[in-house]
Amino acid sequence: MTTIGSVPVLTLDGPSGSGKGTIARAVADRLGWHMLDSGAIYRAVGHAVGARGIDPTDADAVARCAAGLAITFRDPGDGGDTRVLADGADVTDAIRTEAAGAAASAIAALPEVRKALVDKQLAFRRPPGLVADGRDMGTVIFPDAPFKVFLTASAAERAERRYKQLKAKGLDVTLASLLHEIELRDARDASRTVAPLRPAADAVVLDTTGQPIPAVVARVLAVVHKA
Ligand code: DC
Repeated sequence: MTTIGSVPVLTLDGPSGSGKGTIARAVADRLGWHMLDSGAIYRAVGHAVGARGIDPTDADAVARCAAGLAITFRDPGDGGDTRVLADGADVTDAIRTEAAGAAASAIAALPEVRKALVDKQLAFRRPPGLVADGRDMGTVIFPDAPFKVFLTASAAERAERRYKQLKAKGLDVTLASLLHEIELRDARDASRTVAPLRPAADAVVLDTTGQPIPAVVARVLAVVHKA
């Protein structure tokens, strides 16, 4: 019988724009492991709170909503994006908006909410292995993971990546304002009292500034293979 603790986990933490999502997907595919997009879980809860008219500052009410929400991921099977379902409804597109990101960031700062989501995240640890993408995967959720990577990139490069994404969607944004937002968010994420964004003591820190995606994927895979 496989015990949960024996299922290998690769944690991939880092700030938004560090390329985590893309890298995590590619590495999980190469290893044939499951994947946990923990940001999507926070986003789905933020979305549900808004849709149900729950006061986002009422920590107990938000935590109850988080605990009761059935969040599942479904591979569409056509090479397209993984679908995110909340209580059976497809919220994939709804949780990717800027507003959903802001809602997720607000509820993610509530300790009661983070606690309510621990077991849901642990449940993704299934054979043959898990790639867990987030902010506190290596520090809080899977502290015993055998492989831990923390991805960074300069604020200027992360702003540039975000600028290209938003422009591609036809949105009217400026690079300077995005850079300012990213710097503010970095400071907030690193200084919050609950699960602040920082590398686990035993994480390998990889700077992706100026690095093409395949090169970063290779460096992350090397962390797993050289163990
Ligand atoms: O990675 P993302 O942008 O989808 O994350 C959405 C929000 O959720 C972001 O504000 C950070 C927060 N989050 C978190 O606090 N802990 C995680 N493990 C993942 C995301």
